[in-house]
Amino acid sequence: MKTKTFYVTTPIYYPSAQLHIGHVYSTTIAWVLRNYKKLHGYKTKFLTGSDEHGQKIAISAAERQISPQQFVDNMADKFKKLWHDLEIDFDYFSRTTSKKHQKIVNNIFNQLLNSQNIYESYYQGLYSIADEEFLTKTQAKKINNEYYHPISGHKLANVKEDSYFLNLKKYQKWLDNYWYEHSDFVIPEKVVNELKNNFLSLGLDDLSITRTSFDWGIKVKDNSKHVIYVWLDALSNYISALGYSTSDDKDFRIFWEQGDEIVHVVGKEISRFHAIYWPIMLEALHLRKPTTIFAHGWLITKEGKMSKSKGNVISPYDLLKTFEPEVIKYYFASQIHHGDDGVFSYDLLKNVYNADLANNFGNLLSRATTLSEKHFKHGLKDFHASEQDQYIDKQTISEIITKSFEKYLEYFDRFQIDQALKVAIQLSKILNNYIEIKAPWSLTNDLQSLSNVLHNLFNGIYAIASMLQVVMPRKMALVQEILQVRSLDYALITDFYKFKNTQIIKLSSLFKRL
Ligand code: MSP
Repeated sequence: MKTKTFYVTTPIYYPSAQLHIGHVYSTTIAWVLRNYKKLHGYKTKFLTGSDEHGQKIAISAAERQISPQQFVDNMADKFKKLWHDLEIDFDYFSRTTSKKHQKIVNNIFNQLLNSQNIYESYYQGLYSIADEEFLTKTQAKKINNEYYHPISGHKLANVKEDSYFLNLKKYQKWLDNYWYEHSDFVIPEKVVNELKNNFLSLGLDDLSITRTSFDWGIKVKDNSKHVIYVWLDALSNYISALGYSTSDDKDFRIFWEQGDEIVHVVGKEISRFHAIYWPIMLEALHLRKPTTIFAHGWLITKEGKMSKSKGNVISPYDLLKTFEPEVIKYYFASQIHHGDDGVFSYDLLKNVYNADLANNFGNLLSRATTLSEKHFKHGLKDFHASEQDQYIDKQTISEIITKSFEKYLEYFDRFQIDQALKVAIQLSKILNNYIEIKAPWSLTNDLQSLSNVLHNLFNGIYAIASMLQVVMPRKMALVQEILQVRSLDYALITDFYKFKNTQIIKLSSLFKRL
């Protein structure tokens, strides 16, 4: 049987500013999804990168009095360093100023031009430089005769210039139908409804896809006064990284053309580009579409969405001063309900760390390992699962573990990562409670019973660690060492006899209370 493939991407971020914890949230989600699929035996690729063209970047470079290329080189290095510091590994770091990407974008543009999907005309209308987005007057917010972006609030410029257009109108029907037939193409559903109400139902306008008033971008071959619109340029990165339309297109064939699952993780404000323009571009190129556009909400602080003007932008480096990378990633993956905005504060991070990891799971580990070290230095006895092990609602611990794991898989497969991780923490809570009820310290004159309790606990710990390893691989490798097992394999979660004769070892506390 062919190994299944999974290709997941983050947005490629603008290097016009330093990355903050909102970007870290996006990247964490994509990374966790990659880890999950890898544990299921998929062949995976994970892409992140930087979106280096456009007017905004040109302005940022000019403000610093350096060339745009120097500016983006510098920033791209910083991005890579951040992912390294956060222990987020990737397969591609896509840069839109790379020679390869530029060549492929030209191929794409020409293909669209030759197939009459692009035509030359003239654009007159509103443009948000900060969002790199065209808006109509009805989409914009008007205050005192000035127009503003309805979501970001940025002031809009009036643009009048020659432009090439992508014929979106021609694809409106096709897109309606595509969405209808692929009801899981864009998740969550509220994003779909929002896009339907604000864009599709009003009828799509053709999209201006070149600019002529500045030159920091990929020039149209044969008409170099035009640079290609930064979004057409940027979206193409998802296939240019794979080598589309070049002689080195092996990854494109494996992970795109014949690939099984393709997921783009994006913040909700850019879902329109990914859910409307991108599939139309792909359709016009006769290429397959991604499986899922996974749109997520924003990380906000009590002051609201993070922005320079509010002064509430949080740098990941502030958090790294106190917290290990895995703890930060655990917070983002487990505490923000999929699709909703989530409030972040330093105190919340600290509280979740103490509650879930130090007091709950950490405590469970320490109680179980202390007992086994004291009474089973030479290994646990055989496991005699018995009626007495029944715990709540007449369920045995084994049954509770099995059901927890099933729920975890269900949640993950619906992209509800936060809910899935909560299942693991809930199981830890149940096991701590089981310890209270069984009072194993009172069983020291019945070692078989004590050993049974410990088998249950270690089976539970194994399950929890297997479930948490998608986000905390380093910490869970230590749990694996404690349990003296070769791997944390999903398939072994329900093998309840795996700890027979095992000499569990005790490590110093994995999660020190803060
Ligand atoms: N360059 C485009 C993306 C092109 S993808 C082909 C872009 N870049 S960006 O630097 O502005 O990054 C936006 C993305 O960063 C959002 O879509 C989201 O994934 C993430 N976030 C930025 N701020 C965020 C929050 N406050 N909260 C959560 N995610 C946020 O748009």
